[in-house]
Amino acid sequence: MDPPPSRAHQKSDAVDLLVVMEDSTNMSDASSPAMETGASIAPDTTAREQYISHSETESLIAGLKAYIYENGRRYHAFRAGRYPFPCDESEKDRMDLWHHVHLLLNNHRYHLEPLKPHTKRILDLGTGTGIWAIEMAEQHPEIQFTGVDLAPIQPEVLPQNVTFIIADVEDPWSFTEGFDFIHCRGLGQAVRDWPKLLRQAFKQLNPGGLMTIIDTESSCNSDDNSIPADSALWVFQERFHEALSRIGIPDPCRYLAQYMKSAGFVDVRVVRKKIPWGPWPRNETLKQIGACSLAMLESGFRAFGLALFTRVLGMSEDDANALSDAAYAECRNRNVHAFNYQWHVTGRRPEYNISAMVS
Ligand SMILES: C[S@@+](CC[C@H](N)C(=O)[O-])C[C@H]1O[C@@H](n2cnc3c(N)ncnc32)[C@H](O)[C@@H]1O
Repeated sequence: MDPPPSRAHQKSDAVDLLVVMEDSTNMSDASSPAMETGASIAPDTTAREQYISHSETESLIAGLKAYIYENGRRYHAFRAGRYPFPCDESEKDRMDLWHHVHLLLNNHRYHLEPLKPHTKRILDLGTGTGIWAIEMAEQHPEIQFTGVDLAPIQPEVLPQNVTFIIADVEDPWSFTEGFDFIHCRGLGQAVRDWPKLLRQAFKQLNPGGLMTIIDTESSCNSDDNSIPADSALWVFQERFHEALSRIGIPDPCRYLAQYMKSAGFVDVRVVRKKIPWGPWPRNETLKQIGACSLAMLESGFRAFGLALFTRVLGMSEDDANALSDAAYAECRNRNVHAFNYQWHVTGRRPEYNISAMVS
């Protein structure tokens, strides 16, 4: 994982972000120590043309821009294309509403397992707007929080004990200290290689440290066959999975516990809960969760489908949005009782390395 651009320099307009990326190069690129030390700068002698063309400068600058824009939505530019959902204001609102759904679903708990005594450092993978890390940091001023994301969409004013890093969690990590808890929520439609990510997380945890992955399955279902066979919801899901699988992103929830065990985690626990897609349940709490979930889906279907359907499946923007809108409209039908599952998978790094004790 590349070292962090300083959070203080991260702003949401492209000009300031040029500064961010310069800082990040400064710290991560060992081949340009001059930027740090003030020593002379070695010229690049590999170019064949003597004069620098506009297209060369433009493509270099384009690589530094914080965002790319496509079909009216904003996407992350660092490692462009890795994550298929947008990162604009509408998507940030959706993520924060989704955070609220998680809290409602889990009795306002930020984590289901108790933190290890004397927890000092917590890592939040794919932190998004940073809402979980920031609220946790406010509750635990004694703990240092680090959030990692591809997109620089976190707020600028932060509690003292929070740092955000713009990096790809699937790159090799270069943290110099271990963590006591690693939290990873909502990366189900992002991570390509879960076993590798979990091996890396295991190594980065202090002995006895915990990791929790929280994700929702991307398919919905119903207990009473109330989603009609010719439903746009089925078509949406089928196309969505097809596009994800074409770009190498698996639907991981059902396999996470096994991946954790294979990486060396012990005491692996799985909790699975239903999230209604609308206020159709009789139970008051579930009705409220369903209402928030439906509000989240209002922008959610378009956010989930647009890049995947256009970039990967070659659909037009209008067709992609029409399919998303039709799927959403079906969720507004009180007779459609759709839900999906949220999975919490938690494991612990053992206190002792058993094989080291035996040998
Ligand atoms: C669905 S959002 C979840 C945000 C946050 N964890 C939450 O629950 O509120 C997924 C986030 O993961 C980030 N992401 C996706 N792939 C990533 C990767 N390979 N490395 C770092 N961040 C990633 C996205 O940019 C996005 O902000």
